[in-house]
Amino acid sequence: MTANDLAIVILAAGKGTRLKSSLAKVLHRAGGRTLVEHVVRVGAALKAKKTIVVVGHQAEQVAAVVEPLGAETVLQQPQHGTGHAMHVARRALGNAKLVVVLPGDAPLVRAETLKALIAAHRAGNAAATILTAVLADPSGYGRIVRKSGANVSAIVEESQLTEEQRELNEINSSIYCFTLEKLWPALAQVKPNNQHRELYLTDAIAVMAAKGEAVLAQLAADAREALGCNTRADLAEADRTLREWKRDALQNDGVTIQLPETVLVDPEVTAGEDTVIEPCVQLLGKTKIGARCTIRTGSVLSDAILGDEVIVEPHCVLAQSRLDDRVKAGARIGNFVELKKSTVGEGTKAMHLTYLGDAKIGAKTNIGAGTITCNYDGFHKYPTTIGNKVFIGTNSALVAPVRVGDGAYVAAGSTITDNVPSDGLAIARGRQENKPGWASKKRRELAAAEKPKKPARARKKSKPRRTAKKSRRR
Ligand code: UD1
Ligand code: MG
Repeated sequence: MTANDLAIVILAAGKGTRLKSSLAKVLHRAGGRTLVEHVVRVGAALKAKKTIVVVGHQAEQVAAVVEPLGAETVLQQPQHGTGHAMHVARRALGNAKLVVVLPGDAPLVRAETLKALIAAHRAGNAAATILTAVLADPSGYGRIVRKSGANVSAIVEESQLTEEQRELNEINSSIYCFTLEKLWPALAQVKPNNQHRELYLTDAIAVMAAKGEAVLAQLAADAREALGCNTRADLAEADRTLREWKRDALQNDGVTIQLPETVLVDPEVTAGEDTVIEPCVQLLGKTKIGARCTIRTGSVLSDAILGDEVIVEPHCVLAQSRLDDRVKAGARIGNFVELKKSTVGEGTKAMHLTYLGDAKIGAKTNIGAGTITCNYDGFHKYPTTIGNKVFIGTNSALVAPVRVGDGAYVAAGSTITDNVPSDGLAIARGRQENKPGWASKKRRELAAAEKPKKPARARKKSKPRRTAKKSRRR
């Protein structure tokens, strides 16, 4: 059901000067997503009539993130503050009665918290309801000045705090619910009375409170939800929390995670019951893992699809690859083996130090240590096809596009540039030459050259010979 009187405005036009970055603040990532994407997604749970994102800095890139998620954008150019951003959004708000305002830099707020905010706003018949949090260190945030009980008289920005107000530790999350017919007249009275000459949305609170309107404060269920990411440290904090929540969700789905704080999981990843994830594993992108799998330490899986009962050995890199149940009955991928867009058949083994990219490998084939598929020529990617019961010798390079037929052998150290017929042997390496007695002769020569220097007189005599020998050594 959609809430027909409700709209959402996300403020995402600012540059984010404190991040010292060429990338707009809301495009920075935490927990595997851009900040603004988190905010749009949480807003979607409110089923509002529309979601408006105020864009400005790197507007096109921000729009490219939020529009596919169903949001509409309005351009704030230049950016004269959070109050000015609301003026810019006014026309797009149409006939909505209530608005939930969210800053694009607060990725930790949860849908339940926003629903509770709206419920409190409606129940209190309020002009404004502010989501707040009590923080041990409130520095950097606007502070809530309470009038009595749940009623607020003002939000005071950090730069404008009096000595007494510095003690206040309840902060403004910049997440609000407003009754629009009360907000607009109040906002019209706000002046840019600050060192940045900006219109602060926060200043509209004191105007409404002075008029005797109900301005409420609602504490967030979890104080972390109020985090606004203004600095790199804030981003790291948001990332830490989002990653923790994702791991908690996997654990609740029956996944064992060892030393969880070392494991990094992207938001869309899924894993089945009784799967075990060892320390220092990264599960990225759209990776899907079945039940009873083990992902051993140090492995990185991105966009990988694993069936049930798959074991990924330590330090494997799997990208855009699929491993079926029990890895197709006994196929084995060892450590320091990277797979990209490859399929590996039943009983096939690639145990050590190997790169298999764009490769299709049949059943019961052995891929020797150090095998590399050379799948890229600097312009395009090419496939490597290896049949059943093939033996690829150690340290072979397979220059794609190339095919190795069923039952064929490739000699160790070969660089294979032509197809290898079924049942054949390909050797593509320099032929070995042995030189009997070469080593001791060489050692004698070297030892003679190293002999201790003679006294000055003797040296003079031998000079011509030494010079000759030196030039010969070159
Ligand atoms: C703001 C609040 C502060 C609150 C804090 C919570 C104001 C004046 N201050 O401070 O009370 O404690 O958030 O995190 O509102 N933006 C625009 N257009 C602009 C300016 C900003 O769209 O002209 C956007 C930014 O992109 C950002 C959001 O508004 O996503 C908040 O702006 P930011 O500069 O982060 O405000 P804070 O200083 O964090
Ligand atoms: Mg901020």
